[in-house]
Amino acid sequence: MSTINVAIDGPAGAGKSTIAKMAAAKKEFIYVDTGAMFRAIALHCSRLNIKAKDKENIIKASKKASVEIKYIDGEQKVILNGEDVNAFIRTEEISQMTSTISAYPEVREILLGLQRDIAAKNNVIMDGRDIGSNVLPNADVKIYLTASVETRAMRRYKEQIEKGYDVSLENIKEDIEKRDYQDMHRECAPLTIADGAYVLDSSDMSIEEVVEEIISRIDGIK
Ligand code: DC
Repeated sequence: MSTINVAIDGPAGAGKSTIAKMAAAKKEFIYVDTGAMFRAIALHCSRLNIKAKDKENIIKASKKASVEIKYIDGEQKVILNGEDVNAFIRTEEISQMTSTISAYPEVREILLGLQRDIAAKNNVIMDGRDIGSNVLPNADVKIYLTASVETRAMRRYKEQIEKGYDVSLENIKEDIEKRDYQDMHRECAPLTIADGAYVLDSSDMSIEEVVEEIISRIDGIK
């Protein structure tokens, strides 16, 4: 039996993970956060003190990293070399490093098989940058979720403040702009609107509205 695959791509902070998680829960699909997989590899390299720009050593170290995905109480856990690293992969430093190392084709190749394998075995909502264009080009539903830089920076800022981090809105905005640029301009699998993707701008939409829109597209699959 073939599985249903939903691809959600878009820039940092567009709300992909929140929305994908909610839609997946409603449909009883598995939510796959591919950014977390790249983040785990970045963490692995960072712990080895390898600089993001040191491509050769990043590739060497990445090939030795073991990245697995597990679901505990419906939540995705990224397991790096046997350790649940969810708590360590969301810092600004790791975000920036991830954006740099995910541009290396060899690093992307390491995760591609894992991502396709999960989608072949499960009904999934998978979020990332190149899911509709590259990982799952035959996805049943493709969404490109975006929002203005200001909206995205403000969302990230509130998230970080709520977690007790002392951050500046201006720095977050700059980080987001830098990451957008890197993610969109790299040679290998850049962030782009995939063929057949439906573009949703969430700047003036509530989370529920976006989730409903996606669900109605899944329900409309023939
Ligand atoms: O979605 P995120 O912010 O957790 O992603 C972190 C970085 O990983 C992002 O800058 C781009 C990269 N990424 C990617 O290149 N391809 C994916 N499918 C997912 C994330």
